[in-house]
Amino acid sequence: MEMDADRWVMHFQTNREQRLEPDWAAPVTLAADVVVKLVRSLEQFQLSDGGGPASLIAWNCESFRSSSAATRKLVDLWFEEEKEHTRLLFSAVSRFGGRPITSHWSFSVFCWVRRFSVRFELTVLLLTEIAAC
Ligand SMILES: [Fe+2]
Repeated sequence: MEMDADRWVMHFQTNREQRLEPDWAAPVTLAADVVVKLVRSLEQFQLSDGGGPASLIAWNCESFRSSSAATRKLVDLWFEEEKEHTRLLFSAVSRFGGRPITSHWSFSVFCWVRRFSVRFELTVLLLTEIAAC
């Protein structure tokens, strides 16, 4: 299956240019017990969605990145977008009174499995993104 690089470049550029900033100062209408559970989940999610290495880390990632100029550009754009996800999740964590965390056992496993192969890493990263939706 061939990747439509132009479509994905446009996707990332549109996201960058048209993303609306949430109203971080809006009143919190969730019950306190819900916020406690939510913030712990957000803290872990913020760590795994962009809180780790902002690049592919699989042992064979460079062969993938250098397979074409379009692939290199898409990977770079993707991780730029991941940095934005991290910023947004950091704001969400802060909004609910949480603090960013720097380690968690699930994050260690997440980073470890990403090194298996670039194909596996891409799958893991995409599953993370899908879960975020
Ligand atoms: Fe993300």
